[in-house]
Amino acid sequence: MGAMATSTIAGTLHSRHLHCRTLLLLLPYLPIAFLLVDGGGIPTTLDGPFTPATRAFDRSLRQGSEDVPLSDPRLAPRARPPSPEQIALAASADPSSLWVSWVTGRAQVGSHLTPLDPTAVRSEVWYGERPASADTVGHPHVARGSAEVYSQLYPYPGLLNYTSGVIHHVRLVGLRPSTRYYYRCGDSSLKGGLSDERSFVTLPAPAPDAYPRRVAVVGDLGLTGNSTSTVDHLARNDPSMILMVGDMTYANQYRTTGGRGVPCFSCSFPDAPIRESYQPRWDGWGRFMEPLASRVTMMVTEGNHEIEPQGHGGAVTFASYLARFAVPSEESGSNTKFFYSFNAGGIHFIMLGAYVDYNRTVLVVREGSAES
Ligand SMILES: [Fe+2]
Repeated sequence: MGAMATSTIAGTLHSRHLHCRTLLLLLPYLPIAFLLVDGGGIPTTLDGPFTPATRAFDRSLRQGSEDVPLSDPRLAPRARPPSPEQIALAASADPSSLWVSWVTGRAQVGSHLTPLDPTAVRSEVWYGERPASADTVGHPHVARGSAEVYSQLYPYPGLLNYTSGVIHHVRLVGLRPSTRYYYRCGDSSLKGGLSDERSFVTLPAPAPDAYPRRVAVVGDLGLTGNSTSTVDHLARNDPSMILMVGDMTYANQYRTTGGRGVPCFSCSFPDAPIRESYQPRWDGWGRFMEPLASRVTMMVTEGNHEIEPQGHGGAVTFASYLARFAVPSEESGSNTKFFYSFNAGGIHFIMLGAYVDYNRTVLVVREGSAES
């Protein structure tokens, strides 16, 4: 094994306890050191060999990890429609392309809802290698993509339905690796329809001696006081990319009740045949992550908290995860957002979610058993 490819920012400080059934494989094998270093920052092997450091768990984080309210400035809407919000970046198959996602319009919660029309607003990203203010013509390139809306429906009395804002996904192509780009996203035909300018640095091109400088791995993040500590820690250590390995918002157990402030859902709603997931928490989470995710690529896989069964008997699952995140499934030959792969420098990342059928694996195991 050569030099360690990258260092890893540790991070699962979420207070909830449910197990994350998400598997992450890194090829070539990537030693994962859980490093928590304050002040001087986390070292990177690109600077040369270093002694891995581990910070003792801060036991105060076990206490009082209350849900951050949706009125908190980090979760409350900051953009006024039609301006985009919840802007996030995701890597595509290689560093020459990249996904930009965002939300426009307002989500709705209630009994009788009319979903927004995703064709009524454009999905554009204007971008270039210089800030727009430095160029008389603004950003020289534009990429266009698609938009969708999802709903979370509970056809049972007493449970609240939800329909999302318009969720946009645009793929930029022809980018130069390891290069800073400036961009605005939204609909340029609408007054106030474009975001303010953001920037990102593309990942390094695949090569045996080029790696992302620093990769953050985090799971079970949630949206509590402890989650803010984790995200502040991530931001402070300036990651090149983030692997978000499942269980993101915990919208499915928000105050255990779908946001109704009762301590026991089944006690308060004994006749409810399904437990609702309070989807506005996803919008709060998107705004919570935006300062980081709109400048650093964030790669997701699904955990058990993303299942979020809805419809009659839970017939529909993963609606929020599937609609909200762009992942390089198609680019990497996958037929589902539940698993995919991508390159970043000399690392090939394989993201394997746990909620797909691995029939071939079962077959191989059975064949092996038969032979023995
Ligand atoms: Fe988990």
